[in-house]
Amino acid sequence: MAGGGFATATANGVEFEAKITPIVIISCIMAATGGLMFGYDVGVSGGVTSMPDFLKKFFPVVHRKVEAGADKNSNYCKYDNQGLQLFTSSLYLAGLTATFFASYTTRTLGRRPTMLIAGVFFIIGVVLNAAAQDLAMLIAGRILLGCGVGFANQAVPLFLSEIAPTKIRGGLNILFQLNVTIGILFANLVNYGTAKIKGGWGWRLSLGLAGVPALLLTVGALLVTETPNSLVERGRLDEGKAVLRKIRGTDNVEPEFADLLEASRLAKEVKHPFRNLLQRRNRPQLVIAVALQIFQQCTGINAIMFYAPVLFSTLGFGNDAALYSAVVTGAVNVLSTLVSIYSVDKVGRRVLLLEAGVQMFFSQVVIAIILGIKVTDHSQNLSKGFAILVVVMICTYVAAFAWSWGPLGWLIPSETFPLETRSAGQSVTVCVNLLFTFIIAQAFLSMLCHFKFGIFIFFSSWVLVMSFFVMFLLPETKNIPIEEMTERVWKKHWFWARFMDDHHDDQVFATGHVNGKKSNGKSNGFDPSTRL
Ligand code: BGC
Repeated sequence: MAGGGFATATANGVEFEAKITPIVIISCIMAATGGLMFGYDVGVSGGVTSMPDFLKKFFPVVHRKVEAGADKNSNYCKYDNQGLQLFTSSLYLAGLTATFFASYTTRTLGRRPTMLIAGVFFIIGVVLNAAAQDLAMLIAGRILLGCGVGFANQAVPLFLSEIAPTKIRGGLNILFQLNVTIGILFANLVNYGTAKIKGGWGWRLSLGLAGVPALLLTVGALLVTETPNSLVERGRLDEGKAVLRKIRGTDNVEPEFADLLEASRLAKEVKHPFRNLLQRRNRPQLVIAVALQIFQQCTGINAIMFYAPVLFSTLGFGNDAALYSAVVTGAVNVLSTLVSIYSVDKVGRRVLLLEAGVQMFFSQVVIAIILGIKVTDHSQNLSKGFAILVVVMICTYVAAFAWSWGPLGWLIPSETFPLETRSAGQSVTVCVNLLFTFIIAQAFLSMLCHFKFGIFIFFSSWVLVMSFFVMFLLPETKNIPIEEMTERVWKKHWFWARFMDDHHDDQVFATGHVNGKKSNGKSNGFDPSTRL
């Protein structure tokens, strides 16, 4: 979806003249707020759902179950409630749907109005959530936030890739990624603080504080200019050139502008990107992108990100300890993302994924064993030592995810798609991700109730499957220029080579163009335009 702007502003490897202008700095702030907003929404729901006052108001059935304790209900089933899960999951379903509209508005109205639409959705969503009087209002708020996520995650990364000079594009993408994890941590911290508020309105503050990144995004969208790419795409050539001069801080923009025009012409030539995507020669990348999204969610990460406080309270942690532990896992998530940024181009994608596979498998099995022995349906004698061990194991697991499947689930599809299907491929990537995020959000608490400690065995089995997939079917893409992917990766792969017959006449990538833009051959960084 957000694949329209390949991360390059170079022609034949020569960098265009560009300064880091104020508008570029504002772009960085936009990246931060877009990612923060998304992360905050991911992290906030688990904390509020473990707050008694919130449950009493919106989910009295769950509240009674929690209060009744383990004598009446299984420990594992305290929070099993479709409505409660819908509170979390509705956001992702709405985001998924909104993506399709956002893809249209980004193209026809431009990046800036699309970000503005996202900001307005976010603000109304936050107001409805913070002021919610009943469940309908609460869910309506989450749906609007989801629409905001769909629009923002489409437009912000694309905007960034088009506005930033080449040399900081990769960095901006990672900034976006990192900010998702910071948003989650921020939400965990806020929940930890607001849970202490007497008077029963702490959850309102938790949900309301999402207004901060929402407002920043909206104000940001009002302040920034439309991207030259979008103006050119819509035929406003003079304006496009003027904006390019402004953002690059130089009058010498002819080479880049010529490249933009050519890019726009070529982009219009790719008539049926989605049909292209289904062709046999594009099968490996499509299979890999879809599989990576499904696998990323089947690691079980969002069971932790969404429901950590609920999970910890299920295990018998007090409210405070549960929220505190969520803060700890959130912090581990942020720090380990930094590890990934540092090492991904050094050790490569496969090493990170395979190492993390072992680490995640091991920690999940240990958690399952401890819970299997210590936490039964109607009793739990998780001593302090074991409780700490569970938290340590969850952190071990989160760390592994954060330096592997978290960022790489996005990076690999963005760098492996052949050039002419990159945009369409990215749409599919994002949609599959949101779909499976929705499924986990909607199903986890019920699965916990039915599988009990076995839920961790369930996820660890997936980790095993995905590690074998990586071992046999995922080629290393570290330091491979994007236009050489076919020759150096796919044609040499023991399995995927069979899809690479030589009928490439109609392929745009033979010309070294991606989505209608020239590639600079630096494929190993993120393409900011393609992150979520
Ligand atoms: C995933 C999200 C997840 C986040 C956790 C991202 O890469 O796509 O679903 O919540 O990582 O940090």
